Amino acid sequence: QQKAIDAKPKKISPDLFGIFFEDLSYAADGGLYAELVQNRSFEYNPADNRDWNSMTAWKYQTDGFGYGTISVETANPIHQNNPHYILLDIQDAGQKGVGLENGGFDGIPVRGGKYYNFSVFLNVISSQPLPLTVSLVDTKGRELGTASFTASAKGWKKYSEKIKVNFDEDSAMLQLLVKSPGKVGIDMVSLFPEETFKNRENGMRADLAQTIADIKPKFMRFPGGCLTHGDGVANIYHWKNTIGPVEQRVEQRNIWNYHQSVGIGYYEYFRFCEDIGAKPVPVVAAGVSCQNSGGTWKIGSTGQKGIPMEDMDAYVQDILDLVEYANGPVTSTWGAKRAAAGHPAPFNLEYLGIGNEDKITGVFEERFRMIYDAVHKAHPEIKIIGTVGPSPNGEDFDKGWKLANQLAVGTVDEHYYEKPEWFLKNTSRYDGYNRLNSKVYVGEYASWGNTLFNALAEAVYMTNLERNGDVVRMASYAPLIARIGHTSWNPNLIYFDGKHVFPTVNYYVQQQFASNAGDEYLPGIINFTSADTTAGASCVKDSVTGDVILKIANAGSTQLFGTANLAKLGKLAQKATFTIICGDAKVANTAAHPAEVLPKTTVINMPKQWKFTVPAYSLSIVRIKAG
Ligand code: AHR
Repeated sequence: QQKAIDAKPKKISPDLFGIFFEDLSYAADGGLYAELVQNRSFEYNPADNRDWNSMTAWKYQTDGFGYGTISVETANPIHQNNPHYILLDIQDAGQKGVGLENGGFDGIPVRGGKYYNFSVFLNVISSQPLPLTVSLVDTKGRELGTASFTASAKGWKKYSEKIKVNFDEDSAMLQLLVKSPGKVGIDMVSLFPEETFKNRENGMRADLAQTIADIKPKFMRFPGGCLTHGDGVANIYHWKNTIGPVEQRVEQRNIWNYHQSVGIGYYEYFRFCEDIGAKPVPVVAAGVSCQNSGGTWKIGSTGQKGIPMEDMDAYVQDILDLVEYANGPVTSTWGAKRAAAGHPAPFNLEYLGIGNEDKITGVFEERFRMIYDAVHKAHPEIKIIGTVGPSPNGEDFDKGWKLANQLAVGTVDEHYYEKPEWFLKNTSRYDGYNRLNSKVYVGEYASWGNTLFNALAEAVYMTNLERNGDVVRMASYAPLIARIGHTSWNPNLIYFDGKHVFPTVNYYVQQQFASNAGDEYLPGIINFTSADTTAGASCVKDSVTGDVILKIANAGSTQLFGTANLAKLGKLAQKATFTIICGDAKVANTAAHPAEVLPKTTVINMPKQWKFTVPAYSLSIVRIKAG
């Protein structure tokens, strides 16, 4: 067995540090997706969450003493994939009109002077044209901005209006009011800020997207872990359901007890990856759901442990089609759909994940092999990432590895959430991994918490991931973002509410590692002269810029002393940027105190023999340009 050899410089993965986006904790709807209306398509239902239905987040608005009837209908919808809509039959529009009001996700935050893009699908059933207003109002009913229009078309038609907002309000509501008697179907009521990330249509919330982009991740795994394979075969995420016009997508129950509008679908995920310079790493279910949970695949087929074998060929074809959707020419069936969505150029898909923390049974293996063989045969250029069970101590972990090595799967996705002490004790985890076997993607890892100590334990561990960057090809902290008040999982890398984004200390650690990555590991450069059981250091070179980067992580309670011998690294600049993250070990960045620990950057002189003292509880990053 070949072990990690630290004596000589070695090539390490250029894609080591990335991010993992899962639609949990309102990461997509009510999160990264800039849509401000909640339940815009009236598709919420009790299967999502037992208290939910088509009217969740909506109110029937008759404040001006108008009256009529409101009902949820399914006959003659916009599209069969989007069956529910509202039917208003207004007898008297009263003084203000009759219609609907939406409170967004915990209120709609709007800014004075900004424009918002409103759209709605209407089907006017009565013979008279219908005048409507759409307004943003505050909690006291004060109008913040409004627009008027007339709907006359029979059959579903999209109407779009721009609303200029005149005052700031954190908790606005959107009101759509019909101003005269009549009968109208209403669906897909939507409001986006005019500014989205990179000004994309159907785009991402700018501040949140920018915070993610600032990590400079090398890749993004999506659309989730458990979300991908669902809690039953009926809940498996199918990428084809998530592309095309938003009003025609197939919405779905979210395994984390809410709803997926799939407004962010595969097109938007690929486009976002491109916009932030991250390689896309989609993950598809391996033909089984969480822990082979089974359930109903289609009417009449219950008790399946995985997708029924007679449907596996079609499922495998879907995955091959995904590769074509991402990379195929515009003349191909699925490449043409990508082009029609606005992206004729390929998305340069390089990686594909199959499975997530699965139970490694015969049912799994049979299906995994089918998918693996088919993708490998049709697309040898795609790097496949296999899976192992959820815990490094569980039998599905070992079984998963055994299968991956047998099949020579390029990379295996390992996950672990542990105490910070575990990360400090397990720094040599990958030293003994056989370099001739499948490589590693640490697809989800985090220590249980967001204090500086947690982040530093991760930093120490990450210096060792770099040291093993020949076998650990990729790593992503998990999960990426969580909406305060709706978190399904802790810890997360970034917290947010409707208006603010709160990067954790762990975020700054990830950012420092991802934006200061290298592709060559230089051993023996950094030596500690004091006890180092709670510390880690690494030295890497970025061959593109020629820059040398030193990282020194100290999760201990005392100062750390050492030297960095740069003499053998060729000509380097005499000055370097020095970034430090340090503070009280127990402190975390929270909504109330968002900036307790932030990185600070200065310029320092860089002698060939650098004697350093770094503070207790700190991460120091030194970036030295080629001279
Ligand atoms: O990230 C939260 C969950 O943790 C993921 O869905 C799953 O893969 C892991 O168990």
